[in-house]
Amino acid sequence: MADKNIKSVLLEERTFPPPREFTARARIKPADAENLRRRAREDHVGFWADLAAAELTWQKPFTKAFDDSDAPNYRWFSDGRLNASVNCLDIHLNERGHKTALIFEGEPGDVRRLSYRELHAEVCRFANALKAQGIGRGDRVIIYMPLVPEIVIAMHACNRIGAIHSVVFGGFSAPALRDRIEDTEARVVITADGGWRGGQAIELKAAADKALSAGCPSVQRVIVLRRTGKPVAMQPGRDLWWHEVIEGHAAACEPEWVDAEHPLFVLYTSGSTGKPKGVQHATGGYLLQTKLTTQWVFDLRDDDVFWCTADVGWVTGHSYVAYGPLAMGATVVLYEGTPTVPDGGRFWRNCQNHGVTVFYTAPTAIRALMKLGDELPGKYDLKRLRLLGSVGEPINPEAWIWYHRVIGNGRCPIVDTWWQTETGAILISPLPGVTSTKPGSCTQPLPGIDADIVDDRGNPVKRADAGGYLVIRKPWPSMLRTIWRNNDRYIAGYWEKFDNRYYVAGDSAHRDKDGYFWIMGRIDDVLNVAGHRLGTMEIESALVAHPRVAEAAVVGKPHEIKGEAVFAYVVTAASGRAVRRPRSPGSCATGSASS
Ligand code: WT7
Repeated sequence: MADKNIKSVLLEERTFPPPREFTARARIKPADAENLRRRAREDHVGFWADLAAAELTWQKPFTKAFDDSDAPNYRWFSDGRLNASVNCLDIHLNERGHKTALIFEGEPGDVRRLSYRELHAEVCRFANALKAQGIGRGDRVIIYMPLVPEIVIAMHACNRIGAIHSVVFGGFSAPALRDRIEDTEARVVITADGGWRGGQAIELKAAADKALSAGCPSVQRVIVLRRTGKPVAMQPGRDLWWHEVIEGHAAACEPEWVDAEHPLFVLYTSGSTGKPKGVQHATGGYLLQTKLTTQWVFDLRDDDVFWCTADVGWVTGHSYVAYGPLAMGATVVLYEGTPTVPDGGRFWRNCQNHGVTVFYTAPTAIRALMKLGDELPGKYDLKRLRLLGSVGEPINPEAWIWYHRVIGNGRCPIVDTWWQTETGAILISPLPGVTSTKPGSCTQPLPGIDADIVDDRGNPVKRADAGGYLVIRKPWPSMLRTIWRNNDRYIAGYWEKFDNRYYVAGDSAHRDKDGYFWIMGRIDDVLNVAGHRLGTMEIESALVAHPRVAEAAVVGKPHEIKGEAVFAYVVTAASGRAVRRPRSPGSCATGSASS
């Protein structure tokens, strides 16, 4: 890849300094940022170790902060022991037990609030129920649910007993679910009769049944939450209702203390082959950095109401719904449905009705809602908003400016946060009380993150505005540990290109004269459609799995709202001459991609 081929298409000169009133109250002020950066520069490991000791509650403190003896399989805080649900729930019970942890709104409009005490009790009850089903430390649990409080309860119940959760986005198809069940060899699938999206009941249990009908011998139990009330088939001996399995279980559950390196979860993401990869995260480092970035980037204080619109099935919903904000003791909004039911004002109505102060969404949503005009947001009281965030894809300056002007009323800083499933937490982002922002740039690496841009040979690109590979030069606590049961792929995918010297993110980027990072796009065969990663090979293998498809080739095509759209060239088999071939692993990545 020649440098001259990587030129940014975004040319934006405007800058927006943080509003003075915001800076005055910010958790991180300019002097704090300077201190953090200096400390991290002088002693990278010591910087993270101090924060890990101060921010997390350890059952057994760590003595070894960092271990690179198996590089690039790095370990952090490895002889320390802790539990994630304790760090997100138990630690708040005394001081803010009655504070609202979750405000849930279903797409039909039903609202439920759970205090930290109630959430803790539900997590313990469900953890006890899982234990009674024989699930324990190291077992894998697949979660395939709508965006309702129980998805968060299920995740924390897993980590409470040392089980490893793997959430599969409810929009994924049965074959995609089956691939993930088979790869993790999960013993349990937790699902629901369905969920409400786009005005329809999405039939999750039916999809789970379809996935399980073809193999998946590891699965012993399917636990089904009642959400839509639509009838579902229950298989005796295998399927149990959520409300029945929790019956009689105590609202307290002794946590399973795990080593900091114990896998917290596996989350699948698309790569450049047909088979999605199971990104494996470790308990201690992940918790530390999701908590810290929630503090630094979202500036959360006790009176904030935080709404990250991502589905919990994506990493954004893991880090900034289920983990970071709960570790901070925040009030978190959870909304089940789509932004346009009953109309395109739903997001803004939700912000008004629940008093949202910090709002985090994707450029795709912003562009789609921007197209509907200024009147819809104008109908709602958005005065409580004080900070806006963006994630998942580059945000074009036009959408940035609209977000700033119409949603933020010109008052709210915007944090454009760059990160990945693999990085676990935000790595490059403005600090809202410190950084002057430029529309379209994710600005600068956070303290403790050593990001750089290098050329084909791995040498830092010095010239301003020249493009190259985005790399992270030093390990960081919330980085992925490996690819589930495929360490070779971990090394080949992220390290090999530059002889294991840096983490290779798979994005191209350039840095302007002020040292600001501008992300330009993926350098691998991965599309970014509406902020979601889709592998072209994955979609191709889904297409050719159809008996009437002879050949398929998939490319990305610019799309006004979704950023990129899937464009497929398909050669069909002559009629009556279906192509027969065995099912390829990882085929049919997503339900939506193949349509
Ligand atoms: C890829 C990661 C972790 C967030 C959800 C997506 C792109 C992410 C930005 C941003 C420009 C961005 C990158 C990255 N991306 N955030 N602020 N500006 N591009 O997670 O599915 O793991 O995808 O999304 O290309 O590599 P993901």
